[in-house]
Amino acid sequence: MMKTVTLSTLAALTMGFTGTASYADQHTAAGEAAWRGCRACHSITGPDGDVIQRGGRSGPNLYGLAGRAVASAEGFGYSDPIQTYAAGGAVWTEENFVAYVTNPTSFLRAELDDNSVRSAMSFQMRSGAEDMWAYLESIAPAEDSDDGDAEDDGDGDAEDDDSTETE
Ligand code: HEC
Repeated sequence: MMKTVTLSTLAALTMGFTGTASYADQHTAAGEAAWRGCRACHSITGPDGDVIQRGGRSGPNLYGLAGRAVASAEGFGYSDPIQTYAAGGAVWTEENFVAYVTNPTSFLRAELDDNSVRSAMSFQMRSGAEDMWAYLESIAPAEDSDDGDAEDDGDGDAEDDDSTETE
């Protein structure tokens, strides 16, 4: 009896876990499909100039947006309201991204506490903003990989050995 319950619980957990992974992939794919809504004004161009998504230039390059400082795409002339928001040190997270793309003007009005401002981005993403975030996050530079995690077995351990020898 007990054994049966445990096994089926395990099976359910395993299936749930697998389901979560493919759910994330679906988000990314849906976001990529929704890129057509951004294309008129934005491109995604990597640091080496490799074009990941072709697009217009009236909006900033969205490469590496996840974790990027707001209004920081090189060479783009941002409007005053978003620069004011950025001056507070804002960085793009899923939360502010979703709020922004859903309604840029009301997002900036709320953030700046000023109902007279208007966003220079007139587009509003009615649905799928979370998917778009998943997509943009998936094409960000892989910074985690070169943090030197693999080098941990160097200096620190050697010191431990020394102190043991001294005693
Ligand atoms: C009609 C043109 C247009 C469309 C379509 C558009 N945008 Fe924009 N977007 C802009 C402009 C212009 C800005 C710069 C806003 C400013 O200077 O205030 C901008 C800014 C942004 C920013 C801020 C970037 C930064 O560097 O801080 C994000 C994020 C963004 N857009 C996402 C999107 C996404 C995602 C889509 C598609 C779902 C989209 N935009 C569609 C014109 C557009």
